[in-house]
Amino acid sequence: MNQLNKKTLQDIEVSGKKVLVRCDFNVPIEDGKITSDKRIVASLDTIKYLIENKAKVILCSHLGRPKGEVNPQFSMAPVAKKLTELLGQEVKLAEDVVGDSAKALAADLKEGEVMLLENVRFEKLETKNDPELSQKFASLAEVFINDAFGTAHRAQCSTAGVAAYLPSACGFLIQKEIEFMGGALANPKRPLVAILGGAKVSDKIGVITNLLDKVDTLIIGGGMAYTFMASLGYSIGTSICEEDRIEDAKKMMADAKAKGVKFLIPVDNIVATEYKADSEYKLVDSDNIPDGWMGLDIGPKSRELFQEAIKGSGTIIWNGPMGVSEWENFAGGTIAVATAVADSGAISIIGGGDSVAAVQKLGFADKMSHISTGGGASLEFLEGKDLPGISALNDK
Ligand code: 3PG
Repeated sequence: MNQLNKKTLQDIEVSGKKVLVRCDFNVPIEDGKITSDKRIVASLDTIKYLIENKAKVILCSHLGRPKGEVNPQFSMAPVAKKLTELLGQEVKLAEDVVGDSAKALAADLKEGEVMLLENVRFEKLETKNDPELSQKFASLAEVFINDAFGTAHRAQCSTAGVAAYLPSACGFLIQKEIEFMGGALANPKRPLVAILGGAKVSDKIGVITNLLDKVDTLIIGGGMAYTFMASLGYSIGTSICEEDRIEDAKKMMADAKAKGVKFLIPVDNIVATEYKADSEYKLVDSDNIPDGWMGLDIGPKSRELFQEAIKGSGTIIWNGPMGVSEWENFAGGTIAVATAVADSGAISIIGGGDSVAAVQKLGFADKMSHISTGGGASLEFLEGKDLPGISALNDK
């Protein structure tokens, strides 16, 4: 299925219609307060377009994993309040998902008004993609828009099932995610450089396998790099290593060679005696990690090597930090990569919580072409998988 050929908001008539919009309002909440409203802000373009075009807007989302139970801790109330503030107009919260309260509020909606359903995961059958529940969602509205990119890898009633019963399209956020990530994979400005980090090779095998057919250069940093070093026969001290992935790592490096992809792993490392922010640390080459020491960041020679590869690129896909970026002594590699990406002038697409956090902390967000709102969803997209929440939508 071609995920790049889906109807978008502008391809569908919304004026005067009840429009059900699946958003990803799965935001962090502490003591009833939203600590980051980024996902809500990211949905505003779609919501404002619908208001301006006189739709009757019914928003819905999950929040956390309440496991099919109504639990006030996971209520959408803080989200309704934040949306009211951000939109400058009241967003009424239904007391249920598809029950009497939701139906009554939806029936009363006027053009340009906005309401929000309670947490869709208060319904037991939501995560089962149950057709009956999907039909109940559909019966509230006349059009379905999916704009929940962060949840597009889940085949659930409100992300995918409902699309079988209503005319459907993607919202502006999903459209942007598809345009940037899909464009980077299908028709990139070359050279295409992918930078992958994070702790585990096992999380990224699918991504590496898919990207090896597409990229010119693949850069590996973070904890996962030590499994690659082990596959080259280096002693890696107490660094994180997935023994059962060493053969995979070897194969990926061999495949890269066969396909003419430049495959870069760190040549030096900041190693520490303990996995602690204030651990004693020193700099060593990759083939010289002493017993009892673990790699927690890439060293200056690696930073230079990676920066050189980034400098000449046309498109960059970056997912995952180069070291333990939340600890100052081991954040230098991630900062160096973030700086190089920001200065590169290339089309830059950033995904993954820690790399996104690093970019935002450094104030580089505006210098990146696209920061993905999806963690799991963006990885599955990079793996080349169909995302059910996108596949289910109408084609152009
Ligand atoms: C996320 O935060 O990754 C998405 O909202 C999906 O949430 P889930 O993993 O609970 O389905």
